[in-house]
Amino acid sequence: MLDKIIRMFREKEDFISGEEMSRQLGITRAAIWKKIKSLRAMGYQIQASPSKGYKILKTPEFSVDEIKTLLRGSIGREILYFESLDSTNTIAMELAEKSVSDAKKSVYSAVIIADTQTRGKGRLGRTWVSPPKSNIYMSVIIKPELAPRHATLLTIMAAVSCCRAVRSATGLEAKIKWPNDLMLFGKKFGGILTEIKSDPDRILYAVIGIGINVNVNPSSFPPDIQPCATSIKEHLKRIQSRTILIAEILNEMDYWHKILNSGDRKTLTEEWRALSSTIGEKVKVTAGREIFTGTAQDIDDDGVLILRLESGAVKKINAGDVTLLR
Ligand code: BTN
Repeated sequence: MLDKIIRMFREKEDFISGEEMSRQLGITRAAIWKKIKSLRAMGYQIQASPSKGYKILKTPEFSVDEIKTLLRGSIGREILYFESLDSTNTIAMELAEKSVSDAKKSVYSAVIIADTQTRGKGRLGRTWVSPPKSNIYMSVIIKPELAPRHATLLTIMAAVSCCRAVRSATGLEAKIKWPNDLMLFGKKFGGILTEIKSDPDRILYAVIGIGINVNVNPSSFPPDIQPCATSIKEHLKRIQSRTILIAEILNEMDYWHKILNSGDRKTLTEEWRALSSTIGEKVKVTAGREIFTGTAQDIDDDGVLILRLESGAVKKINAGDVTLLR
């Protein structure tokens, strides 16, 4: 109901009378007043005029109800929000697993968002530092029509979605470092952790975890990551609404997930190339215990990195960490 009220305010951009609201929403004027009080408690500044009705003067930086009003597709239709969690990915994997055994409780397209995580997970067993009230920590549960060998494409799809969303919400020229690092001016500000459950020929479900440093002050990062980490706020010089950014990401993801499910990998990988900071660069790739240096030539239609080694040989890399050598 609150999302419907927010949507009404956005569409009208002016005072709306209590009478009109009560007619459109089918609830009493007393109930409308209660909702207005709830919105105020959530941080909305609402002017109330006895003759004209209500008007929103200021919206909070983060509101799940408002995210819902901005969504265009099915991803995010269900949003579960937690103030604090161990890890949004862990909960999302548990929910997805329950849903496999109980078809009535489909959780596909559901999104888990936390304000802070106590055991945020990064790739390769690392920790994802997750301070409260500033960043995005969310996991999207999907059921991709994809064989497990193509799973890297899920990370490619999420990276494209996040990068495009950051560009359109902030105007900053975000880039992607293969396969999943979101970069601003050569420093990482976000990452993606994809976890899947599959049988031999198909993915049963996937959880795409997204962590983005939005409004955190980089001086608060642990000293070891400070030299290579940044946040959106550091470059934007103002607070970025997480509401807007999350909604953009989910809308982009809805679009690119459909492209992927349609089998059109080419369009997706072309978009990835256009946003990449990796292709054509001299790189060092750490893949497990092996280290390769060479030129990142391209990615193939599965999102696998094609590296031209200094010897001239070509090496395909499924998973690893890329450092750009300048
Ligand atoms: C990386 O190492 O680059 C991936 C980081 C992914 C972090 C996000 S935050 C939301 C989700 N929940 C987690 O525990 N991890 C992912």
